[in-house]
Amino acid sequence: MSSPIRIAPSILAADFSKLGQEVRDVVEAGADWVHLDVMDGHFVPNISFGPDVIKALRPHTNAFFDCHLMIAPADPYLEAFAKAGCDSITVHAESGAHLHRSLQTIRALGKKVGVTLNPATPLSVIENVLDDVDLILIMSVNPGFGGQKFIPAMFDKIRATRAMIGSRPIDIEVDGGITAETIGAAAAAGANVFVAGSAIYKGDGIAAYRQNVTALRAAAEGAIA
Ligand code: DX5
Ligand code: ZN
Repeated sequence: MSSPIRIAPSILAADFSKLGQEVRDVVEAGADWVHLDVMDGHFVPNISFGPDVIKALRPHTNAFFDCHLMIAPADPYLEAFAKAGCDSITVHAESGAHLHRSLQTIRALGKKVGVTLNPATPLSVIENVLDDVDLILIMSVNPGFGGQKFIPAMFDKIRATRAMIGSRPIDIEVDGGITAETIGAAAAAGANVFVAGSAIYKGDGIAAYRQNVTALRAAAEGAIA
C-alpha cells in the first residue's frame, strides 16, 4: 500500500512577525504537517529559530510538527526539541560522528525518527540505519535557504531511496524547490511527503495558502494516479 501524500509547509517562508497566525492559517488551508526548519548558522549559513519558538507555536495547532534540524552537533539539543513539541525530529547524517546513536536517542524520546542527506551525500551513508528510521528526508537544494531551484539529479536519488527501503514503512520526504512544476516528478519518483516554503507562503492568508496547498496536492496525486 503506498504511503499517503502529505503536504508540509516550511515556516521558514512564513511571516516571522506573526508565526502563530501563519501556522494556524496554513493548517486551516489544508496542510498535513508543519515543517520546522531549525538552522544554527554553523551547519548551514543561516540562523532561523530554536526550541523556544517551537514551544510557543505548539499550542496553536494539533498538526504534526516535522522538525528538520540543520544544526551540528544535534545530540545535545534533541531532548529540548522533543520537549518543545516536535512530533518527528530529523537529523542530518552529516551533522555528527554517531548517527545511529542520534537516531536511537530520538526513538527513546518517543518521537518519529528522521534522517536527512544533503544533495551530494550518497544514500550508502544510511543503508545501515533503515530499520531505525520512520522518515528519510531527501534534500533537493543545499540547505540554508528557501526559494532555491530543485536540483534535478535528486529525482534519481528519490527513486533509489524508494528502491532501497523496499517494503519498510518509511516516509520519503523531499525538501527544497518543490513547486507545482516539480512535485509531480518527485511523487512519481517515490516521494510521499513534500516540503514547500515559497510555493505555499505566497499571497496573503488562508485563501491564498489553500489555493497553493491544493494545487500542490493535485499535482502530486495526479502524477501517481
Ligand atoms: C532549506 C529548508 C527547506 C526550505 C524550503 O534549508 O530545509 O525546507 O525552507 O523552501 P522552498 O520550498 O522555498 O525551497
Ligand atoms: Zn527543511
